[in-house]
Amino acid sequence: MSEDSIYSQPQSVAPFEFNDRVVQVFDDMIHRSVPMYRESLKRQAELAAHFYQPNSRIYDLGCSNGNFGLQLLTQMGDRPFALEAIDNSLPMLNQYRQRLDAVDNYDQVRIHHTSIEQIDLQSASVVVINLTLQFLSLAVRDQLLQRIYDALLPGGILLLTEKVVHEDEQLSALQQDWYYRLKKENGYSQLEISQKRDALENVLIPESCEQHQQRLHNVGFRQTDIWLKWFNFTSFLCLKK
Ligand SMILES: C[S@@+](CC[C@H](N)C(=O)[O-])C[C@H]1O[C@@H](n2cnc3c(N)ncnc32)[C@H](O)[C@@H]1O
Repeated sequence: MSEDSIYSQPQSVAPFEFNDRVVQVFDDMIHRSVPMYRESLKRQAELAAHFYQPNSRIYDLGCSNGNFGLQLLTQMGDRPFALEAIDNSLPMLNQYRQRLDAVDNYDQVRIHHTSIEQIDLQSASVVVINLTLQFLSLAVRDQLLQRIYDALLPGGILLLTEKVVHEDEQLSALQQDWYYRLKKENGYSQLEISQKRDALENVLIPESCEQHQQRLHNVGFRQTDIWLKWFNFTSFLCLKK
């Protein structure tokens, strides 16, 4: 795993992109920047394996370089399944393909280089959207969630994980503070933390837990849970009856 030092030197900060340079260090970046990333992905893969219905599809929206897909292959073992993995970053998907080449049974994974906004969703028993909705414009989020709900089969599950903001200003500041403490503990300097924050400004647009819950309710989900929460990171589990 190459070390993420992208923001270690002073620079004129450009808006964040999932380009070649980021993909080279993506695993180091995400493990050092997302609390409990490994635990979260493992449990999501377990949940996906648990809720998967034969002859249905699992969608991984914003699949990046395949960390969820590789976990899922382990969880599913010999069980046949169909994973549709979608991302609009070609460097991410190139790395995903290379990683799949090194494992067995990877023909159960279909990779799509397209925008989540373009993909046709159908016959889904599981939809995973891990740390990705936050990169879509606010204007398309309601419609995407509605399409996810409509594509889910009865008994299907949506796993949604997001960086969130607290609606209370003081608690929001506290969450940010503790998040930057985590990044510092994980070896990022003050300069790296502030330049990355600037790069993500207007690119990663977080919402509050209440906004997510309201949207999930509006599109039709009646059974939802926050199954994982760490300050400004929240994972929702949503069942379709
Ligand atoms: C933080 S990463 C997601 C991490 C990944 N789900 C995981 O668990 O390791 C966000 C991903 O969403 C992708 N992405 C952002 N906007 C997208 C869009 N409109 N369509 C498809 N992929 C998108 C990015 O290319 C990037 O790979």
